[in-house]
Amino acid sequence: MPTKVIIGAQWGDEGKGKIVDILASNADAVVRYSGGNNAGHTLVINGEKYALHLIPSGILRPGTICVVGNGVVIDPEFIVKEIDSLIARGVSMDNLLISDRSHLIFPYHKLLDELQENFRGKNDIGTTKKGIGPAYMDKTERCGIRMCDLSNPDTFAEKVKANVEFKNLLIEKVYGVNGFVAEEIIEKYLAYGERLKPHIADTTKILYEMAKQGKNILFEGAQSSLLDLDYGTYPYVTSSHPAAGGVCIGSGIGPTMIDECFGVVKAYTTRVGKGPFPSELNDEIGDRIRERGQEYGTTTGRPRRCGWFDAVLVKFSVRVNALTGIVVNRADTLGSFDKVKLCVAYEKDGQITTAFPASLEDLAKMKPVYEEFDGWDENLSGCEKFDDLPESLQRYLRRIEESCETKVVMVGIGPGREDIIMVN
Ligand code: GDP
Ligand code: IMO
Ligand code: MG
Repeated sequence: MPTKVIIGAQWGDEGKGKIVDILASNADAVVRYSGGNNAGHTLVINGEKYALHLIPSGILRPGTICVVGNGVVIDPEFIVKEIDSLIARGVSMDNLLISDRSHLIFPYHKLLDELQENFRGKNDIGTTKKGIGPAYMDKTERCGIRMCDLSNPDTFAEKVKANVEFKNLLIEKVYGVNGFVAEEIIEKYLAYGERLKPHIADTTKILYEMAKQGKNILFEGAQSSLLDLDYGTYPYVTSSHPAAGGVCIGSGIGPTMIDECFGVVKAYTTRVGKGPFPSELNDEIGDRIRERGQEYGTTTGRPRRCGWFDAVLVKFSVRVNALTGIVVNRADTLGSFDKVKLCVAYEKDGQITTAFPASLEDLAKMKPVYEEFDGWDENLSGCEKFDDLPESLQRYLRRIEESCETKVVMVGIGPGREDIIMVN
């Protein structure tokens, strides 16, 4: 290691949680730095499935400190439930730390997320409706309320009252639905504050000290580079900075303290929510990938849109995150197809390009240029190293490296902790 960033390099759900859990076997700390419970990270350990949303994916490694950083927006009701459900499964929360600078999600954020989406009608973003966007809006508008505010009940109450007064105007006068009673929120939230108190800390200081001592720290991305406010397919993005640059702002660790950055991808592409998707397969092959991969959202249960691997998009992620390597998950899921396609470039008006455009209107016009590969067997369970993989899969992965201008560092061959091949 010692400090390694793991981010999604497509449109989310690449299997980041699985990779973080694997690498956490020798991590001293695992840190979430952006997003909120819009994330759903699945770990499969000894056949048992864990779906984590706010709690870092190092929590199943006893002794690893798990930090929910300042860049994360936290729904306290949700995190308390997540903590309780993990405790009920015998998972210790002794090592969970929550940043005192993290912003809180309130019930009015969740309602506004829904009302705004309904108002957008056919132009909706397809958010998870967890209140993420409205909470980050309050943060940048400078009326957000933070974890540290919970320890000061009087000023916390004042802040909530001021926000509820304004949000109720918006909710009632603009959207015409019932608003909230500030006192009810205050009472509930102060109780959550008491419950979370043992975990709340200045996590920036703890992480800085650990990094200075050369401890192994993993930063766990949520969402993905293509859902980033700056690098994603705006406006069909989330409201935070899941890209590698978000690590510094969202955790308090400066750029000189970061050593490596891996991007996680699937052997194909998926997207949940709206927005252009050049290599999308609206046909039986797309349906077959969805069914084989059980591609339904961990957080919302929505079917994920499926398509071939898009190397133009991943090459863009490699560049804007300065990735030191990529992890290719789900090589097994793409197995059993006779032929597999890889999008190596886009074509528009007879011009070939490998540049990923900023304009969504341009992106929507891009036609994928495919190369075709022979398929491979879906059962890869006997493979322990790269050379054990079927030759056609090796060729596919080598071409991905070439077209994305990076190297493959790990290959996922199943959902379990052990289903991984270390390449470099
Ligand atoms: P995350 O949000 O990036 O952590 O990913 P999700 O957990 O939302 O979605 C990834 C899904 O793929 C989960 O159901 C994982 O268990 C599963 N998964 C991850 N890697 C592999 C793999 O290599 N093969 C298979 N078959 N499933 C995988
Ligand atoms: P993980 O960490 C996939 C998508 C939503 C929507 C857009 C905005 O599991 O990979 P938001 O609720 O954030 O305002 O929604 O972002 N989205 C995700 N898609 N995986 C995720 O997280 C996502 N988190 C948000 O579907 O298109
Ligand atoms: Mg997910």
